[in-house]
Parts: sequence; C-alpha cells; structure tokens
Amino acid sequence: MSTVINAEGSGAARSVTGVRIEAVAVRKSYGRKTAVQDVSFVLAPGERVGIVGESGSGKSTMAKIVTGLSRSTAGTITVDGKELNSLLSTQKGRLDYRRRVQLVAQDTTSTFDPRHRIRESLRVPAQLLAGHDVRDADVAIGEITAELGIDPAWVDRYPGELSGGQRQRMSIARALIVRPDLLVCDEAVSALDVSVQGVVLNLLRRYSVEHGAGLMFVSHGLPATAFITRELVVMNEGRVVESGRTLEVLEHAKHPYTQKLVGAYEAVEDVPAA
Ligand SMILES: Nc1ncnc2c1ncn2[C@@H]1O[C@H](COP(=O)(O)OP(=O)(O)OP(=O)(O)O)[C@@H](O)[C@H]1O
Ligand SMILES: [Mg+2]
Repeated sequence: MSTVINAEGSGAARSVTGVRIEAVAVRKSYGRKTAVQDVSFVLAPGERVGIVGESGSGKSTMAKIVTGLSRSTAGTITVDGKELNSLLSTQKGRLDYRRRVQLVAQDTTSTFDPRHRIRESLRVPAQLLAGHDVRDADVAIGEITAELGIDPAWVDRYPGELSGGQRQRMSIARALIVRPDLLVCDEAVSALDVSVQGVVLNLLRRYSVEHGAGLMFVSHGLPATAFITRELVVMNEGRVVESGRTLEVLEHAKHPYTQKLVGAYEAVEDVPAA
C-alpha cells in the first residue's frame, strides 16, 4: 500500500483537507507589461480545474500567484476566506501554505538544486512539510517514485543527469510527497510520452479523488486537460475568456480562441490511424 497516495498508509503524516481558493480581479504587471488582468475564478475544495490558453496568455503567472511564489499587483486571492498575502506575511504562514499548496513548475531545472542528488531534494519536503522521519521519508520516496514508474536508480542521480521528462516526473513526486490540499501542475506532463502521460494523469486523478485534494492543471494540451479536469478556464492575452464545466465549455465553445483550440484537437482526432 502506498503511503503517499492511499490514506491508510503508514506514512500518512498529514491528512489532506480540501481548500477553497478564490481569485478576484487579479492583475500582475512586470513594469509596463501586464501579464494578467481582471482574472477571477474559484477553485472549490477537491475540484479539478484546467487552465488552458496559448503561449504567453498568463497561465504560469496565475499558477505562481496561486502558489504564493509571486504576488499579484492588484486584486485579491483568498484561501478559505483569508487573504493570501496576509497568510504569507509570516514565516509560519508561508510554511503552512507550502504544506497545503504545492506547485509542479513548468521549468523543472529550477525545481532541483543542481548540487544535490534528487533524494535530498525529495527528503526535505518529505520531512519538513509532510512530517516524516528520515526512514519514513525514504519509504515514501520509494513508493511515490514507483507509482510514477520512475526507475529507483534515478533518485540517487543529480538533476543534471536526468532528461527533462525524468525530471518532470521527479518534480511531480516532490510535490505529491507533501500530500498537498491543492496541487498546481504547470505543464506537468508536457515532456512525457503518451503512455507515461497516461500513468501520471491517472495517478493525479486518483490522488484528487481519493483524498478530496484540488488540482489546478495548467496546459496547452486539450486531450490531457479534458481527461483530468471537471472545470475549465480559458485564458487569452492575460484575461479569462471563457469558463465553466469542462465538457460544456468544449461542446459549446463561444470564444474564437476556444473554438480554435477545440478545432485543433478535433483535427488531430480525425487523423486516421496508420
Ligand atoms: N518575469 C517576467 N518579467 C516580464 N514579463 C514576464 C515575466 N514572466 C512572464 N512575463 C510575461 O507575461 C506574459 C504571460 O506569461 P506566462 O508565463 O504567464 O504565460 P503562459 O501562458 O504560461 O505561457 P506558456 O504557455 O508559454 O508557458 C508573457 O507575455 C510573458 O512574456
Ligand atoms: Mg507557462
């Protein structure tokens, strides 16, 4: 039995509770450049929400703001009704938030310290955030990596010795080991081939369903997003242009960008099998 994914595991150090996150009229500017503006959405506890949109539409900006890695310029983010910026104003608050909300970053090179073997980078969150002792941390590392189909030998490598796809799975392991209430995945499966993608997507969905954990799934790719999410937010040029139940948004796409996205997906689906 996995200590990471299944609630009854021996290393179930932290119990997962749902978290409600509400973004209201969020804006983020970098100097004169506005990355996102007037972005509002609700991540209900245990909900799986996709954020799609073309490159540069502001998806990663929102992922970083929701996870507390970046601060908004205007607007508010509330977490179970409390203002995120005030939660992050103390060291204890920042640590608590890291326990509750984890990010699988788009750029996996910055996730791991190049001077340390991956095992060290997994032990730190397992101990500091999930509350394992060192022995249980290693057990949890063994289990979560096995669930992700990771070769155990990779854990004792340095990050620079892994491929982008291998590092991407390690990055998911590092986030899941914390057993967060909300997992924010920014293009977390984009470097994986389709069969491995299936394993990872199934695991993420199981984690959400079995624990009531939320998932914010940021992606360019519609098939994976449609599979894993129940709600969808479509962004274009820094704004939300459409949102709702995933299937409804896709079936009745109103905005030209959403129609284009669905059209591209259907065109791929229509290619006859060789
Ligand atoms: N640190 C930064 N400084 C200046 N501009 C930035 C910074 N980070 C992002 N931007 C700009 O903000 C906009 C939104 O970027 P963001 O990374 O959120 O897009 P994205 O939707 O995640 O794109 P992609 O699909 O390519 O990952 C872009 O125009 C980008 O150039
Ligand atoms: Mg991005």
